[in-house]
Amino acid sequence: MKHFLRVLYQFLVFLYCKILWRGLKFVMRKLTGRCELQRICYNNKPGARRTLKIGSSAYVVEKTIEDIMALKKINPDTNPQLGISLQASLLQIVGYRALLVEVEKLRREPYDCDNPKHEDMLLKLWKELRPDCPLTGRISKQWCEIGFQGSDPKTDFRGMGLLGLSNLLYFAEHDKATALQMLNDSLQPKHKYVLVTPTPAAVMYSFAIVGINITELAYSLLLSGALKTHLYNVAPEMASLQHFQQTFCYLMQEFHGFWVEEDPNDIMEFNRVRSKFHRKMVRQLQNPDAALCPHFSASDLHLVNL
Ligand SMILES: *[C@@H]1O[C@H](CO)[C@@H](O)[C@H](O)[C@H]1NC(C)=O
Ligand SMILES: *[C@@H]1O[C@H](CO)[C@@H](O)[C@H](O)[C@H]1NC(C)=O
Repeated sequence: MKHFLRVLYQFLVFLYCKILWRGLKFVMRKLTGRCELQRICYNNKPGARRTLKIGSSAYVVEKTIEDIMALKKINPDTNPQLGISLQASLLQIVGYRALLVEVEKLRREPYDCDNPKHEDMLLKLWKELRPDCPLTGRISKQWCEIGFQGSDPKTDFRGMGLLGLSNLLYFAEHDKATALQMLNDSLQPKHKYVLVTPTPAAVMYSFAIVGINITELAYSLLLSGALKTHLYNVAPEMASLQHFQQTFCYLMQEFHGFWVEEDPNDIMEFNRVRSKFHRKMVRQLQNPDAALCPHFSASDLHLVNL
């Protein structure tokens, strides 16, 4: 009998809690008139502002399926935009993760001299940057002219794998004028050295090495999630590798300007200038309207809200 009463008591408490919970949800809905997703979609313009809110909402992460079921009950005639907005934001969230996986895969793929695809990319990079000056051999001191450290660039790719090479090649192919200008500038000795020594040895920086290093910077911004604002604003649905490569072009261009402005004495100051540049980019990306577009692509990117 005692046992029966205890079970009955527990059952009543359970029932009470359940009714209370349902009531609470009912009241919330009545009070706001909308579910959380509707509120986010209606109160935030498309792009980073909306997708960041949806992405950080536990609602979506844990209950995407439930939301979509709930969505079906929403009258499509009175909410024609909601389904479209929601789908675009979800695609952006999924797209960011997919891009991270793709970039990580390239980064982990080491440069392989026996892979003809890799070798072709490398030789193509040379042709893009030095069109009037053929390579005398695959192993050659000439590689230093475009900012590699020795006669075989393969060792320089160690840190970032194929990602570094694919970024450099994209930059040279799609933003050729900027890349060539940067390469040319990087080879100019600083004026003060010209005055001091008749044969200036001081080079501003090594173009390819800096390109590989800025690849790491772009990668770290992607990994930390800092690029979400930018990518959600420039890629209306899933971001692709091309979006990442264009971000790299922007970062190269900006880094070059920053380097010139900082006016370092020599390459020993690279660490300091890079850290300062990194902080500047992180700050810039904290703006929900951030969009890091290289000048050449502003017209072909379909900007959501600029
Ligand atoms: C590249 O640098 C040289 C000096 O070494 C300069 O004469 C030339 O005008 C530069 N080219 C461009 C395109 O800036
Ligand atoms: C890039 O430069 C920073 C600062 O000098 C250094 O710590 C980092 O290891 C470099 N990364 C690559 C991939 O070269």
